[in-house]
Amino acid sequence: MVQMDTLVSLCKRRGIIFQSSEIYGGINGFWDFGPVGVELKRRIKESWWRYMVTSRDNVVGVDTSIICHPRVWEASGHVNSFSDPMVDCKSCKKRFRADEPDLQQGVCPACSGELTDPKEFNLMFHTQVGARSDSASTAYLRPETCQPIFVQFKQIQVASRKKVPFGIAQIGKAFRNEITPRNFIFRSREFEQMEMEFFTHADESEKWFEFWVNERFSWFSSIGINESRLRRRPHDANELAHYAKGCTDVEYEMPFGWSEMEGIANRSNYDLQQHMDASGKDMMFFDDARKEKYLPYVIETSIGVDRTALAILCDAYREETVNDGKRVVLGLHPSIAPIQVAMLPLSNKLKDAAKNIEKELRKEFVSEYDDAGSIGKRYRRHDEIGTPFCVTFDFDSLDDNAVTIRHRDTMAQERIAMSQLADYLRKKLV
Ligand code: GAP
Repeated sequence: MVQMDTLVSLCKRRGIIFQSSEIYGGINGFWDFGPVGVELKRRIKESWWRYMVTSRDNVVGVDTSIICHPRVWEASGHVNSFSDPMVDCKSCKKRFRADEPDLQQGVCPACSGELTDPKEFNLMFHTQVGARSDSASTAYLRPETCQPIFVQFKQIQVASRKKVPFGIAQIGKAFRNEITPRNFIFRSREFEQMEMEFFTHADESEKWFEFWVNERFSWFSSIGINESRLRRRPHDANELAHYAKGCTDVEYEMPFGWSEMEGIANRSNYDLQQHMDASGKDMMFFDDARKEKYLPYVIETSIGVDRTALAILCDAYREETVNDGKRVVLGLHPSIAPIQVAMLPLSNKLKDAAKNIEKELRKEFVSEYDDAGSIGKRYRRHDEIGTPFCVTFDFDSLDDNAVTIRHRDTMAQERIAMSQLADYLRKKLV
């Protein structure tokens, strides 16, 4: 499996992921997605959205504000208890999460100094809203995207005319002031979540929980992730959050070990109850079919876009020996490849004709025109960013109106009529 520093350097070299504010020395826990990375992220989100929202008639989407009324986070319990235990080193002043495995000896892993007793550290980022800067104007950057969904449950349900059971989904930024961001983009301080809250009668919550665990597992396969590196991990009773009736993680075998990608949880009716109590607004649903008014239970599926991107990159990376040396390939599933097709003219004299074809492809595909360097170098560059198809335009193309498609994984080449090109790609890029 790929080493993390190899992947980090590929991501930097090829414009997938950069350290944020690098010219100022970087800022720990923040990352920028470059021109290739942003396309990868977009594809992940599009795939998730189609799979979870638009392909179903019982899930709707929303896009809520990042900053909510501060009482949202009091009612949800985050102000009081969204914290991790933290210790400081008395000598080098470094800060660690007290529950990290390498702290088991009770000494500083950096300098062997003495550590303080653990104290709770709240992970929410604060900001001020408006011109005043007192405690009344304090607001929080959301640490998860689901709370605004709970707060707006009634409005969304009425406006969308959905009846329980149904789901509300959202993709958006979340912020956590992690004590120790680590493992590249695996644990950062600003990240994106894709969450779906499925509202159901309590009697059916177990059934829907099983349903969504299976559905979520299938999504990973649909984007080409190797199933042997995926596993389900049901939480033990003592690991469950106080509101949760059950939780199963989907874990991926990262280069640094099995790690949580996604949590699927039965959150009971805890969140709706909390917001109903705190706001005094009725959050109950009247179920015509059951002739019963109740507070729905929630099955949540919650996954990070950045973690998914990391798993995809680790999964797809491979090195091969070919005639002219080493070849690095990102064997990405065609449906999530950042650049779907590259157009490469074989001679400078063919630039204009090749550019015209690429201009047409652009209308439908994410394509790139590339005439810089030898054809071998151009192939290698596209192998490294996972472009599934390179199209070469040569002198024969002028006469036979055909181009050569070169397949990333097999390096096999086939000649195809230009008039068939778009249709060919359309069929292969799903
Ligand atoms: N609403 C439930 C919730 O937020 P979570 O287990 O805290 O649950 C869900 O987070 C997912 O969000 C995680 O499985 C992970 O994919 C992603 N995530 C959480 N914290 C993260 C961080 N610091 N950096 C990157 N992704 C993170």
